[in-house]
Amino acid sequence: MYPRIFSFITTTCLLLALVHAQACPAIPDLTSYNNTALPDPFTFANGNKVVTLEDWACRRAEISTLMQMDELGVLPDDPDLTVASFTGNTLTINVTDGGKSISFAPTITFPSGRAPAAGWPAIIGMGGISIPRPSSVAIINFNNEQMANQDSNPASRGVGLFFNLYGSDASAGAMIAWAWAVRRIMDALEMTPSAKINTARVGVSGCSRNGKGALVAGAFEPRLALTIPQESGSGGTDSWRISDFILASGILTQTASELHTENVWMSPNFDAFATTSVNRLPFDHHLLGAMVAPRALFVIDNLGYDWLGPFSSFGAMVAARTLWTAMGASDSMGISQAANHTHCVFPSTQQPLLTAFINKFLLDQEGDTGVVETAGNYTFEVPDAQWAPWSVPSFV
Ligand SMILES: *[C@@H]1O[C@H](CO)[C@@H](O)[C@H](O)[C@H]1NC(C)=O
Ligand SMILES: *[C@@H]1O[C@H](CO)[C@@H](O)[C@H](O)[C@H]1NC(C)=O
Ligand SMILES: *[C@@H]1O[C@H](CO)[C@@H](O)[C@H](O)[C@H]1NC(C)=O
Ligand SMILES: *[C@@H]1O[C@H](CO)[C@@H](O)[C@H](O)[C@H]1NC(C)=O
Repeated sequence: MYPRIFSFITTTCLLLALVHAQACPAIPDLTSYNNTALPDPFTFANGNKVVTLEDWACRRAEISTLMQMDELGVLPDDPDLTVASFTGNTLTINVTDGGKSISFAPTITFPSGRAPAAGWPAIIGMGGISIPRPSSVAIINFNNEQMANQDSNPASRGVGLFFNLYGSDASAGAMIAWAWAVRRIMDALEMTPSAKINTARVGVSGCSRNGKGALVAGAFEPRLALTIPQESGSGGTDSWRISDFILASGILTQTASELHTENVWMSPNFDAFATTSVNRLPFDHHLLGAMVAPRALFVIDNLGYDWLGPFSSFGAMVAARTLWTAMGASDSMGISQAANHTHCVFPSTQQPLLTAFINKFLLDQEGDTGVVETAGNYTFEVPDAQWAPWSVPSFV
């Protein structure tokens, strides 16, 4: 296992060095990493501090590499060829790589009326959306389970269009396969003006497992302007570490040790951590959220399901929000946790903040978005002696 990991590190460091003009520090050997707290976003794995935006670009790339290696599996580079066409309301996307081809075809639901000159703003619905459809915003319906995790069980490993292209033994779990496909949708929209979508104003949303997928897509596709994970729970906005702590305190919460056996959302590489200790991961999901910064992120939660770990999500996302703070962009990150209601049935209490995010980041209107609201009794601040024993710089 280790030689493969080290050659991956070497390859990745080389790529990072190219992208970042050789300025990024190399990732050290982390095999004996053990940290009960949320890893400090503002310290590289080698111990150096992150003080500038340029440092963060390197740290973000480091986090991306580590998350792909230990949890999500490898996100393939751009494919050899992507061809798109738009007919009726269907965007047909054909992707060729290494001599193999796949085709998938999201449908688009358009607002009524004439498209704005720049095209319609849009939300990519990861398996559809569970937020109310905003007027003046198109919905791109992405059938993610055709790509990966089609039977929602462990037998779905390596099955789906993504794996037809990259092989059934690809390291990617479903989350990365879905994010890869979202990237192809963005490619297709950019090359297909006849679809009339404003590619500078595209968001992504999904609920529950698809909320996990929406967050991963937002983290790995920098062209997305707005990311809205809804009730995404463990594997989404939750912290692996805090969820373990909540379960240990007797509240039945989904943790890594259960999640990795339930489905194929993560890479098989994650098993080694899920079956031993998540403290060995040199990241947690506050850093997945942080990868979205400074683009807009609106986290929607529901306090009614212990299994979703709402306090875990709160802690991780407040910790993630420190990146927007460091960038002077905290208006672009909001959290809303509503009182108990049916899973994925959007409550009206969250509508004002959702509308503010849609208005500001998709419709170029005013909106009061820098809000953290919870119907729970949660408090979480950074620094926190137990979970976040680190301080927040202002990037210079
Ligand atoms: C990890 O750190 C904790 C807390 O310091 C310690 O109790 C535990 O034994 C360590 N685990 C390993 C595998 O080193
Ligand atoms: C896309 O793939 C489909 C299915 O293989 C095929 O029918 C279609 O001709 C392809 N379109 C383009 C533009 O290559
Ligand atoms: C949410 O409401 C349902 C139905 O009333 C109830 O069974 C459940 O225990 C509630 N959840 C919490 C966390 O209180
Ligand atoms: C908040 O605390 C109050 C008083 O301790 C309690 O009655 C209430 O149920 C708590 N609410 C939640 C959502 O935990």
